[in-house]
Amino acid sequence: MAENPRPKTPADLPAAEPTATRPADEWWRSAVIYQIYPRSFADGNGDGMGDMSGITERLDALAELGVDAVWLSPFYRSPQRDGGYDVADYCDVDPIFGTLGDFDRMRERAHGFGLKVIVDLVPNHTSSEHEWFQQALASPEGSPERARYIFRDGKGKNGDVPPNNWESVFGGAAWTRTVNADGTPGQWYLHLFDSSQPDLDWNNPEVHAEFVRILRFWLDRGVDGFRVDVAHGLVKADGLPDFEKPLTGGSMGGAGVPLTPEIEGAAEPELPSTPYWAQEGVHEIYREWRRVLDEYEGDRILVAEAWVDPLTKLADWVRPDEMHQAFNFVYLETPWEGPALRRVIRDSLDAFGGVGAPSTWVLSNHDVVRHASRLALTAENPQGAGIGPNSEGKPIPEVGIRRARAASLLMLALPGSAYVYQGEDLGLPEVIDLPDEARQDPTWYRTGGERYGRDGCRVPIPWEAAAPAYGFSHTGESWLPQPEEWAELARDVQTGTPGSTLELYRAALRLRREHGLGIGRLEELDGYPDDVVAVRIGDVTVIANTGETPIELPAGELLLSSEPVGEAALAPDTTIWLRLQD
Ligand code: NOJ
Repeated sequence: MAENPRPKTPADLPAAEPTATRPADEWWRSAVIYQIYPRSFADGNGDGMGDMSGITERLDALAELGVDAVWLSPFYRSPQRDGGYDVADYCDVDPIFGTLGDFDRMRERAHGFGLKVIVDLVPNHTSSEHEWFQQALASPEGSPERARYIFRDGKGKNGDVPPNNWESVFGGAAWTRTVNADGTPGQWYLHLFDSSQPDLDWNNPEVHAEFVRILRFWLDRGVDGFRVDVAHGLVKADGLPDFEKPLTGGSMGGAGVPLTPEIEGAAEPELPSTPYWAQEGVHEIYREWRRVLDEYEGDRILVAEAWVDPLTKLADWVRPDEMHQAFNFVYLETPWEGPALRRVIRDSLDAFGGVGAPSTWVLSNHDVVRHASRLALTAENPQGAGIGPNSEGKPIPEVGIRRARAASLLMLALPGSAYVYQGEDLGLPEVIDLPDEARQDPTWYRTGGERYGRDGCRVPIPWEAAAPAYGFSHTGESWLPQPEEWAELARDVQTGTPGSTLELYRAALRLRREHGLGIGRLEELDGYPDDVVAVRIGDVTVIANTGETPIELPAGELLLSSEPVGEAALAPDTTIWLRLQD
């Protein structure tokens, strides 16, 4: 038996959160927030596409799981060229998902279960089918209708060279040329994403006013907050300068974290500044929105989707007069390695705590390879690339699920707010062998199949092993094909089954609440091998073994473990929660 490890001295610990300005009982400081991707959660009308009534019917499962809130990816009117992140009307529900009345019923039921409801706000761009963009196309150069977007003349003799060299996140140029009413080539418009997603011009006061109206529309309808899409992209550098894109990093920005271990104490990487990410001007927008939210009763929140490195810079998004939370993608991109994990946990608590915000923790979402596969990849795979039949370094499934369970158990112990993506509570892996013709991610089309994109993490989830489409839709329809192996992972099979991933999540969420882990203070524990993360939060000791050899465990009461624990040893790729003997 190893000796009980001693906590580090206070000087070694992350700075305490300044709580003077923010009360600690705000729900979002420690909430577990479940992401629903509406297209793939549950289909109420049997057309193969998830919808609002499907969500409403299945909310009881999330209440039983023990989460505090749901975040719904976009369900607004949209041609669905980017899974709904191409919004044509921000204040209506797309008919494929239902009606505003269906939304109200869903929200009421969620609130009835005590679940908060967060909706997605997409302010960087609209759909090209949005009324504003249609008006812009029909209006002359220099008109107020065009001034809501970023239209520019092309370069070169005939204006046939794009205004600058920026690339779309989904591949190809970030500019598309318009055609004038008389058939001649016209100006170009900027789209950081698909050509069906023209970027708005946030220098225009009309754009500001419109988004305040949209915020109020949903706040008045009773939502508890907004997840803000591309919250690092709204403002572009003056003059839209050319720049050399760094070779590292995922498609959404940030440095990306290499597969090699990070050296503790090493300086953060110096990144060249990108003229469309993390420009200073975005912060004034969030201050404006914060003032709006603060007018409303209840703790309504703003959550930044900002792929920003380093964490000390990301913390600017959650200063006291800006947003409440920011997704911790640095954590998501950290490899399953002790030194790197220890460092990111410490840096996160320091950086967010330094501005009085809780840290967040996230391992999966609708844009990344599911962590039950990602943690067992053997080749670099930048965010957005996806994996498919011809990818190198395909994951080893048994390693992936084992690490995923261990990583989730570590994440769910950490102080702050955790995000769970639909299906990770079932241990779903990425679907690798989707047929080409089924793929819908614009990344796949815009790169001519070079990047598979994100469909593999968006496959409709399994509810009942024996039902058509595993209970996703009563007709058996499913907009992406579900793998046969998913019968074994269906929610009904895992419910009440000791050792299932679902029961692991349920137990973790129950214990997290009982032991106040989300609002606890974290102490790092000394005396363990380098590839082990050992921390204490309140009366719970959490030990994660990322290495290749079993380690001895201190004596204590076993609360939960990601794999069966035998002979007082913690096997590789396992996390345990213990209450140590005094
Ligand atoms: C981030 C969203 O999460 C992603 O799914 C979407 O494609 C882009 N933003 C563009 O809206």
